[in-house]
This record gives sequence, C-alpha cells and structure tokens, in this order.
Amino acid sequence: MPEIAERRSIRKFKPTLVPAECVAALLEAARLAPSSVNLQHFRAIVAQAPVDLAVLRSAAYNAGACATAPLIVVCLADLTADAELAERVQEMVAVRAVEPLDPSSLTTGRGTPFVLRLGASFAYVNAAIAVEHMVLQAQHLGLGSCWVHHFDHSEVREHYALPDTLALVTLLAVGYADEAPTPRPRRGSVVWVG
Ligand SMILES: Cc1cc2nc3c(=O)[nH]c(=O)nc-3n(C[C@H](O)[C@H](O)[C@H](O)COP(=O)(O)O)c2cc1C
Repeated sequence: MPEIAERRSIRKFKPTLVPAECVAALLEAARLAPSSVNLQHFRAIVAQAPVDLAVLRSAAYNAGACATAPLIVVCLADLTADAELAERVQEMVAVRAVEPLDPSSLTTGRGTPFVLRLGASFAYVNAAIAVEHMVLQAQHLGLGSCWVHHFDHSEVREHYALPDTLALVTLLAVGYADEAPTPRPRRGSVVWVG
C-alpha cells in the first residue's frame, strides 16, 4: 500500500491551509477506526484558528512540526466511553453486526468468566488507532503529518479546559509538506524469534 511505504513524519510545512473537505476526511477516517468492543474512545479538537495554533505552538516549544503546521489536531481519549459498553453492544446487535449477547454473561472459551480488560489502557490504544487512520488518510490526500507527543500537556489542557475524563493522547500536526525526508531506518524484521 503506497500510503504506508511513502509516509514520513513531516516537520516542516507550507503555509497553505488544509481545505475543509480534507479536514472532514481526516475526521471521518478517525471515526471509522476499529476499537475494542466498538467503544470508540477517540475525540478530536481541530485547531486552525491563529489563536489556537499560537497556544499549541507555544506548548510545543515553538519547535518541530507544530511550529509551521497550519492544522493541528488535538487527539484525545474519552475515558468515560467504557461506561457505554452495554449501549455499544446493543447497537451492534440491533443491526445484526454481532450475535445477540448479554455482556454480563460472557464467558471465555474455557467456560470461565470473561473479564473485559477495558479502562484507560484500551482508551489510549483505541485513540492511537484513530490517530494513525488520520495519518494514512492525510498521506492519501497528499498531506504530511507528524505525531507530536513532546509538548507541555498542562498548557493544552488549560487552553481547552479539558476535563479529567479526557486523556490527551497526542497532537497531530498536518499540512502540505515543505520537506522530503528520506525514509527513517527500520528494524529488519518485526518477527519475534525468541
Ligand atoms: C507516539 C508517537 C510520538 C511521537 N512524538 C513525536 C514528537 O514529540 N516529536 C516529533 O518530532 N516526532 C514525534 N514522533 C514521530 C517519530 O519520531 C517518527 O514516527 C519516527 O522517528 C519514525 O519516522 P517516520 O515517521 O518518518 O517513519 C512520534 C511518533 C509517535 C508514534
């Protein structure tokens, strides 16, 4: 898949604005991402206004990808989504996407009670998958992007008055690339040989 092979983290962007239809396509890519028990923890704040970009750039130390990105997606995980488990399951049952089931009566293949390993760890995993969907959609649209985790989280939380139930996962800097980095090296194989 060319989007996977050709993608690079882009840290220098042209000032050209990202069109609204591209922003919509990025959010749609995130919305369609898979998630554990379809809990869909991912939430986004789209920052394109100069006042918001200024805060985010400052929080990211006015360096790296955020310094020139005309679009920054603040990527969040809603920690309250786990409480919607029964609702999510019923939604899937209603459209026959899964067999009817009672979440409280789930058992493992060995007959022992099935304990759903939900909670914050899955919130981050699910949100990260949604972020990466946006990254690949951006690549498909001819846009560059870069995950930015190195920033002052408290400044961003304060600017958007984020409640404690929203985990700040990453900033995703997006825009038209103004650099063409060579591929970053990778391990020869991901196969575990023990
Ligand atoms: C979770 C995560 C956090 C990252 N944080 C940063 C960051 O704070 N600043 C940055 O410039 N790049 C960041 N990156 C980008 C990585 O440095 C980059 O993906 C890696 O060096 C491989 O390069 P490539 O994306 O061009 O293949 C992050 C990537 C991930 C997945």
